[in-house]
Amino acid sequence: MFSASAFAMAACSEKDPVEQKIDSLLSRMTLEEKIGQMNQLTGIGLADDMTAQIRAGKVGSILNELDPGVINELQRVAVEESRLGIPLVFARDVIHGFKTIFPIPLGQAASWNPQVAEDGARIAAIESSSVGIRWTFAPMIDVTRDPRWGRIAESCGEDPYLASVMGAAMVRGFQGNELSDPSSVAACAKHFAAYGATESGKDYNTTWIPELQLREYYLPPFKAAADAGAATFMCSFNDINGVPSSGNAFLNRTVLRDEWGYDGMMVSDWGSIEQMIPHGFCHDLKEAAGKAANAGIDMDMMGYAYISHLADLVKEGTVSEKYIDESVRNVLRLKFRLGLFDNPYVDVTGEDIFYSDESLGKARRAAAESAVLLKNDRKVLPVGASVRSVAVVGPLADSPADQIGTWCFDGEPEHSVTPLAAIRSMYGDKVRVIAEPGLSYSRDKSAEGIRKACEAARNADVVLYFAGEEAVLSGEARCRADISLPGAQTELLKALKNTGKPVVLVVMAGRPLTIGYEAGLADAVLYSFHAGTMAGPGLADVIFGKEVPSGKLPVTMPRMVGQVPIYYAHKNTGRPAADITLIDDIEVGTKQTSLGFTSYHLDAGDSPLYPFGYGKSYTEFSYGPVTLSSDRLARGGSLTASCEITNTGDFDAAEAVQLYVRDHVGSLVRPVKELKGFNKVFIRKGETAKVEFVLSEDDLAYWHSAELSDGDLAFAHSTLVHTAEPGEFSVWIAPDSASGVPAVFSLE
Ligand code: GLC
Repeated sequence: MFSASAFAMAACSEKDPVEQKIDSLLSRMTLEEKIGQMNQLTGIGLADDMTAQIRAGKVGSILNELDPGVINELQRVAVEESRLGIPLVFARDVIHGFKTIFPIPLGQAASWNPQVAEDGARIAAIESSSVGIRWTFAPMIDVTRDPRWGRIAESCGEDPYLASVMGAAMVRGFQGNELSDPSSVAACAKHFAAYGATESGKDYNTTWIPELQLREYYLPPFKAAADAGAATFMCSFNDINGVPSSGNAFLNRTVLRDEWGYDGMMVSDWGSIEQMIPHGFCHDLKEAAGKAANAGIDMDMMGYAYISHLADLVKEGTVSEKYIDESVRNVLRLKFRLGLFDNPYVDVTGEDIFYSDESLGKARRAAAESAVLLKNDRKVLPVGASVRSVAVVGPLADSPADQIGTWCFDGEPEHSVTPLAAIRSMYGDKVRVIAEPGLSYSRDKSAEGIRKACEAARNADVVLYFAGEEAVLSGEARCRADISLPGAQTELLKALKNTGKPVVLVVMAGRPLTIGYEAGLADAVLYSFHAGTMAGPGLADVIFGKEVPSGKLPVTMPRMVGQVPIYYAHKNTGRPAADITLIDDIEVGTKQTSLGFTSYHLDAGDSPLYPFGYGKSYTEFSYGPVTLSSDRLARGGSLTASCEITNTGDFDAAEAVQLYVRDHVGSLVRPVKELKGFNKVFIRKGETAKVEFVLSEDDLAYWHSAELSDGDLAFAHSTLVHTAEPGEFSVWIAPDSASGVPAVFSLE
């Protein structure tokens, strides 16, 4: 007969060894030591105050300490001088590179190549872990439809599917095959959640999101990151429907833990627990600490809320010690999984691995692959043998710091290779290079340099004009209400155009810019989302034809900011745009009638400047019809959609082939199309590739209410289900979100 303790022992012995170690350690911890593990501080070197707190077991993690000697000494104090010897975990924002900087995540998404994202994260992990960083606060997978928001630069764009694929690739890259490998760093899926919905594109602003949209649009990339094994999550600054994420138990417990079964660790954002006071959600820091702990925030980043008040909150019963134990388990589990108990110190004898040839080579190819060719009249690009001289102009042509973009704490501009430097060093034997910036920086309004820039243009065969944004104009708290080219860049372009020389406009920015007028002036437009250390060589390789552009837009480009939000997966409305009469075409004296009106702006129409998924190549691809293995999809079954794509042009090239689906009729209105797959294929000139996608009913499922039999209940809070409804569906296999002829099938 087994005794209860024997059962318990049996259960325990079956427990994961890490869980057993956590149990053992937790049982020996005082409440104060538990709370110490939930406290994250920013590095201040070997200050007595820091070492004293570590020695007293009051610190669980340190961010922003980068000196490996300091890291090892602080770790020694934790491991050898604190009562229980629990190691610290050192963290840093390594978003798109530590030293070797890759394109900003929006640019990586423009490559539509998950391998680019995985490679970038792997290199970032190897470089940052070499100084002792074992936790990064990336990937940022907040989808957004608002280019005014500065942090769109850090995102993977507007689409949940693309962000899911790219975010999961980054998780794999950061964490490697084994999280305990010293070259691996814990990833952090952030910012949970819906930070990208920030009202008016102003950072930290409020969001109002129905649960259906939260689940349908904002949460999928986080689920993908959790499924990819992201070791940590970070909450977001924003409130959702009045509840700040730092105090949102629905998000952090119901969804993340109960529904998804997530067992990683959740950290607050910087001071976000304390910020529930200015939010007007908490009276004081003690209340904020209680609400955050009860809502499932495991670690307080620089808020001093937990270390100051959690012990009292537990003693008075406001916060259950059960919750504290759960959070401390999550923290300890992260440290065990990272191997820090067995291997707490960074090997400082390692050779300098920064900027290796292999890393720089991958960064260069990433910069090329993330460039999006938007226009190429008269095939001005690639610059060919007939071109004997080029004028390299513009404030971004030779700006080492700006090209690496936002969120680059440790990227070193002195290692950047700018477009001017690259053209000179790599293509200077083919063309004479005449350099004149014209403007000193992107916001420069002075016109005095324009004359010299035009003189350079007149002396050259082709003008390469590098325009865009300084890095500081995007990123956190860097939001713009006007997203046009800053400064006198448009004036400079007009003057260059007036020289009569072909002008290639290369935009280097942290967001889509409203460049419709400028694109009309230029003969070719190449769009680069701040492409990193090797932006210069990557762009030069595209411009001179060593690389054929294959980038596609990860976000819709508006004609004007007044169209925002404008995105491809929009609803059709009851009066979809038709019979568009633009503002200048309205006859004077036209009377207002209520007939024939449809959904569009008088001064912009209803289409974007360039659609999501759009990008040209130097070659041409001809898409055949979409063929289906069946026109009926049985429940639990699958069907194959395929398309033959022929490279009919003059260059071997890669093409990001996209799969879109439309649910014709639903118990809730459905988007006109949604990205459900993509495949970047390389097709030699003259050859044909058959691209296939397998569709199942899971691909057609969406969030809706089980009880919804008609629209009357659309606002009733009922059980939400994620299922596919019977009916007809269209399926496209296309080069972008605005092209292609669909095939139709039905789901039983
Ligand atoms: C910042 C950001 C977050 C970052 C953290 C630590 O405010 O919102 O993304 O990881 O603080 O730097």
